[in-house]
Amino acid sequence: MLLKRFGVSLEENLLKALDSYVIKNQFPNRSQAIRFLINKNLVEKKWEENREVAGAIVLVYDHHKRDLQNKSTDLQHEYHQMILSVQHIHLDHNNCLETIAVRGKARMLKELSDKLISLKGIHHGKLVMTTTG
Ligand code: NI
Repeated sequence: MLLKRFGVSLEENLLKALDSYVIKNQFPNRSQAIRFLINKNLVEKKWEENREVAGAIVLVYDHHKRDLQNKSTDLQHEYHQMILSVQHIHLDHNNCLETIAVRGKARMLKELSDKLISLKGIHHGKLVMTTTG
C-alpha cells in the first residue's frame, strides 16, 4: 500500500512517552508504533460496534473432565458457523490447550467465548480479539 507522510506535533512529555513505548515494545521506529496504535484502536471499535471480526479462543483444561469436553463440543456445534478451526494440543499428562479460530459478528464471538471460558473445569481461557483485515 502507498505510504503517505505527515507531520505530527506533540508535547515533549507525549513524545517521550511514545519513544519509551517504541523501545519497550521493540518497534523498529515511531511510525510502526503509531501504525500499531491506530490499528489497535480501529479493531477495538469494530468489536464495540458488533462488526464482522475474527479471533481466537484459547482454553486450558484438564482432559480427565469428560463432562467438560462434552459441553465444550456441544457449544462448538451450536456455534459451528463461526468456527474456522480447532487445534488441540496435549500439554502434559493432564492438561490440554485448545485454540479455536473464529470469525463472525463480534457479539456472537464474545458470547461463544464467554460460554466456553465459564465452563466448570476450565483452568484458563482468553479471547484474542482481532480483525478480518
Ligand atoms: Ni489433550
